[in-house]
Amino acid sequence: MNDHRNADEVRVSFLTHTATATQPMTLTFPGQHYPATRMRRLRATPFARALQREARLAAADLIWPVFVCPGEKQRQAVPSMPGVERLSIDLLIAAAGEAVALGIPAIALFPVIDSADKTADGRAAWDERGLVPRAVQALKTAHPELGVICDVALDPYTVHGQDGILDERTGAILNDVTVEALVRQAQVQAAAGADVVAPSDMMDGRIGAIRRALEAGGFHQTLILAYAAKYASAYYGPFRDAVGSAAQLGGAGKETYQMDPANGDEALREVALDIAEGADFVMVKPGLPYLDIVWRVKQQFGMPTAVYQVSGEYAMLKAAAANGWLDERKTVLEALVAMRRAGADAILTYYALAAARWLKDAHAA
Ligand code: PBG
Repeated sequence: MNDHRNADEVRVSFLTHTATATQPMTLTFPGQHYPATRMRRLRATPFARALQREARLAAADLIWPVFVCPGEKQRQAVPSMPGVERLSIDLLIAAAGEAVALGIPAIALFPVIDSADKTADGRAAWDERGLVPRAVQALKTAHPELGVICDVALDPYTVHGQDGILDERTGAILNDVTVEALVRQAQVQAAAGADVVAPSDMMDGRIGAIRRALEAGGFHQTLILAYAAKYASAYYGPFRDAVGSAAQLGGAGKETYQMDPANGDEALREVALDIAEGADFVMVKPGLPYLDIVWRVKQQFGMPTAVYQVSGEYAMLKAAAANGWLDERKTVLEALVAMRRAGADAILTYYALAAARWLKDAHAA
């Protein structure tokens, strides 16, 4: 509602939603009303639009999530994620070279584990000669400047596809036993040379436990990117196809550890705890349906904040583009810049390479 006091200011009253209350608020903008103020003047020319642009998107903001599979010269398409391939380490090295050339600062590794290596406790997750440690070593040797982020979670390694270890009798996911396993996994990743360990499991206390273990092990520089506000989202479906945990889960959900999509205040509590426990970056996931959470987290904590444009978001854009229903380049860049506007410093996206190319072309044009 506009409330016109005098010619030199514009007052706008609205309701603002904070963690604890909804309050009326009034903002006063300097300036005058129409026709002295014509908002369209600043939109009339490309140069003026460029100068008043608030959020920027660059390749340097992007993190590329990749799926690494066993073997050599392996390249497997993921049907629910057109354009995304599971790559064996040798091919991943070449792909990572493209990311480096495009100015993408980091990649996030997700393993595809042979079913024969999956167990109830996910023990392959802390095998020093496992797929992830070998991939990290190869990547850091070939591309030392590329940041390597490792997922800390058991779901690719468990026969049941859950991120935790189950109580055999009740089937409940055991928090503290799982945290011990995650600590071992993170130690192995750090020892292999991972720059960042990124717990995506949503167990309680795992950030603190991992931080203590890293400090004790002399890994003072290993960063922790906490999947701090991670929701129990149906948008992870295609990812579960990619890592092969969908079949294992068999329709079971993750609601006892991932967050309820209806909650916002709870996300702030989760983020506060992860910061207190020693996270260097915090993440909100998924992306576009949760930009209010990104905004609140960034406003509240001012932490380096990442957002994950997850597999389902990618699949939706791909499907619409493939049907000719959406302009892929424009919709993807719009979604990504919206994440930056909401407060994200870094964005994990399967579109990282494509987006970096589009941004480069736009620059050259
Ligand atoms: C599991 C994990 C998931 C994703 C990243 N790590 C899926 C899940 O929680 O079931 C999802 C990423 C995506 O959908 O792109 N630890």
